[in-house]
Amino acid sequence: MQNIDSLSKQFSIPGHIDFIEGTDGLIVARINNELASAEIALQGAHLYSWKPREEVPVIWLSQDARFERNKAIRGGIPVCWPWFGFHEVDLRKPAHGFVRTCLWTVSGTEALEDGRTSIRFTLTSNENTIAIWPHKFRLTYTITVGTKLDLQLITENTGNLPFKISEALHTYFAIGDVSELEIHGLAGYTYADKSDDMTLKMEPGPVLIRNEVDHIYLDTEGMCRIEDQRQQRGINISTQGSHTTVVWNPWIEKSEKMGDMGENGYRTMVCVESANALNNKVTVNPGHHHELMARYEVTGLQCEL
Ligand code: BG6
Repeated sequence: MQNIDSLSKQFSIPGHIDFIEGTDGLIVARINNELASAEIALQGAHLYSWKPREEVPVIWLSQDARFERNKAIRGGIPVCWPWFGFHEVDLRKPAHGFVRTCLWTVSGTEALEDGRTSIRFTLTSNENTIAIWPHKFRLTYTITVGTKLDLQLITENTGNLPFKISEALHTYFAIGDVSELEIHGLAGYTYADKSDDMTLKMEPGPVLIRNEVDHIYLDTEGMCRIEDQRQQRGINISTQGSHTTVVWNPWIEKSEKMGDMGENGYRTMVCVESANALNNKVTVNPGHHHELMARYEVTGLQCEL
């Protein structure tokens, strides 16, 4: 198993990346380059902070986030795989799949010529994963940190039979205040409303958050955009290999039940998740792979709210 000494010897790069012990002994990859900083727990390959220089944090982390073994961190970018949401037939299996709490292996780091830093994680099927999900796979997840944040999740089928997955890069974005937020790029799409019994609805315009929102937009293409009036900034979200977009804010009652959202935490976060779910599930044939990519970029405001 990788420890801080072995990781430091093999993968630290001065001026770019080192490895530290985080809360509760979780090992953390810490990136600090001329363009940005980021922290990623090896458990879940879970990025929980990203801040381009001169910016306030872009990624939300709950004040009450718990960093515990085998528990998903509330905030950051949980990787949901090989299913999104509850397991279709067995509710005892973990919500959002199992890889967000697995210990991933660091398999590479790189200082890029333009000043960015990338780190590559892998996770391969083993007897524990086969007991939960009976397929052979290899996941390769590359995070590249600069003024933009690039995420690339590659699913390889290393077994002999096709398998079907749903997945999400379940990103919690930090926003000024939920009352001064619009999400653009989803108008005209059909969504399954998870907080209304999965009723299918059509989004008439920009998404506003005035109560619990748990929308799964289907067949999405192209870019969407967070307009954050309070912080006077926008965040562009562009994707490849993703055909579902999830927008989620638990609002007051659900946050209270969750217990780790922090006081009024729901006001300063919104999840916009680049996913493949419901009728956008992906089949991966033996020897083949599938790529899911997302890129986040902070910009000025483009729309007057
Ligand atoms: C969202 C789902 O993606 O994740 C919500 O659409 C869910 O229904 C939320 O509540 C958080 O899930 P979890 O398992 O991290 O509490």
